[in-house]
Amino acid sequence: MNSSGSVRVLFVCLGNICRSPLAEGMMKTLLQENPKKHIICDSAGTSSTHQGEQPDPRTLKNALQNGIYLDHLARPLTEADYALFDHLLCMDSDILREVMRRKPKDSRCEISLFRTYDPLGGIDVPDPYYGGSEGFQHVFDIVKRTCQHMLSHPHFNPL
Ligand code: 4NP
Repeated sequence: MNSSGSVRVLFVCLGNICRSPLAEGMMKTLLQENPKKHIICDSAGTSSTHQGEQPDPRTLKNALQNGIYLDHLARPLTEADYALFDHLLCMDSDILREVMRRKPKDSRCEISLFRTYDPLGGIDVPDPYYGGSEGFQHVFDIVKRTCQHMLSHPHFNPL
């Protein structure tokens, strides 16, 4: 927790148009349903290729079909994020490695895999970008149960 009394969480993937904006939108939706939880969240990508873009149309469509509206515009991870957020949650092992590599020496934020909090276990949220629509639903299911589990986890419920 920081001086705001909230836990600040940044979800990080590669392009910030598929996995991490879904996690951000999912968590924001869950927080609307759980107003006593104090989590502030955002998302970013290690790449700036898609900067300023809306989420991938396949992610948007799949999320909407499941009742989740996404309004994020892609942005790259910055050095400031390491000071602004308590947790950087990485969508896969490559992202984790890159986020760790860029970590400023004086940063105290926790960097971990998003699926650390998946109640079914697992390591990577598979990248759906080059696959079919079933991949987007698979990602949705992982992201939903992991975000739900985060809400009851002590790391996101400071005393
Ligand atoms: P994301 O998916 O990291 O979940 O946003 C991707 C988006 C774009 C690309 C790869 C993965 N790309 O190669 O452009």
